[in-house]
Amino acid sequence: MLIFNKKALLQNHLEALKTAQSTIGFVPTMGALHEGHLSLMQRSLNENTITVISIFVNPTQFNNPEDLQKYPRTLEADAGKIKTLSDSIIIFAPEVDEMYDGNTISQHYNFDGLENQMEGAHRPGHFDGVGTIVKKLFDIVKPNNAYFGEKDFQQLQIVKKLVEKNNLPINIVGCPISREASGLAMSSRNARLSDTEKQEAAFIYKTLQEAKSKFSTSSIPQLKQFVEDAFASHPEFTTDYFEIAPEESLVPASIKENTKYRAFIAVFLGNVRLIDNISLN
Ligand code: PAF
Repeated sequence: MLIFNKKALLQNHLEALKTAQSTIGFVPTMGALHEGHLSLMQRSLNENTITVISIFVNPTQFNNPEDLQKYPRTLEADAGKIKTLSDSIIIFAPEVDEMYDGNTISQHYNFDGLENQMEGAHRPGHFDGVGTIVKKLFDIVKPNNAYFGEKDFQQLQIVKKLVEKNNLPINIVGCPISREASGLAMSSRNARLSDTEKQEAAFIYKTLQEAKSKFSTSSIPQLKQFVEDAFASHPEFTTDYFEIAPEESLVPASIKENTKYRAFIAVFLGNVRLIDNISLN
């Protein structure tokens, strides 16, 4: 299994590997890999002749310095997990300077307003950081297909917009959320939860499922009230937001129209921020 930390060496290797028939599948990650990441890689292996995974904790997308500092960095363990899937997966694990050349700042992006909702409103600068690093990685890896989990549904929509606005010939593949048996959405941040907190965190998805079951018979304000009341009786959580929004615009809605909706939630459990979402119809 090959691990590159210099972009030029990765690019030379990919150039040498590529044939007229080959396709590159790409899974960008920040490491601390879990089953969810492995399922994205497996999908890429199934659908492409070459699979590249990047492992890079991108400083510009963290609005909270403590979150950046505490983000798990587990390259050796990650490489071991990747190896269990396939020895042929190529890992790109650069240092910050290799990606930012001594200038660790984001480019400013306009994603037609997608960047202003929910995660964008609650984490200033986050999607500029995501857009900046994903564009840099796409320029280096030049994938045919790139795989993103629906847990970060807003990020997925933003990456699709990035590709559309820059006319990049990349197919963005959204993949279903991987969950623990308890229903908790898999996330690298779960590593920061105690065993008790992990059990408590199952309440997030349970509540989303209940909201989904009420969607056809309740108004959006009623559903928001239901979720607010549910979390009010669980003081271990602090709710950052709960919103119901059309999948396309992501603009939080108050009345239902004839479109596809999702419920989105962000909560703090202790000092760990967790997000999840569910399609409603
Ligand atoms: O979803 C993530 O892990 C990150 O936001 C990404 C897409 C790898 C960019 O740093």
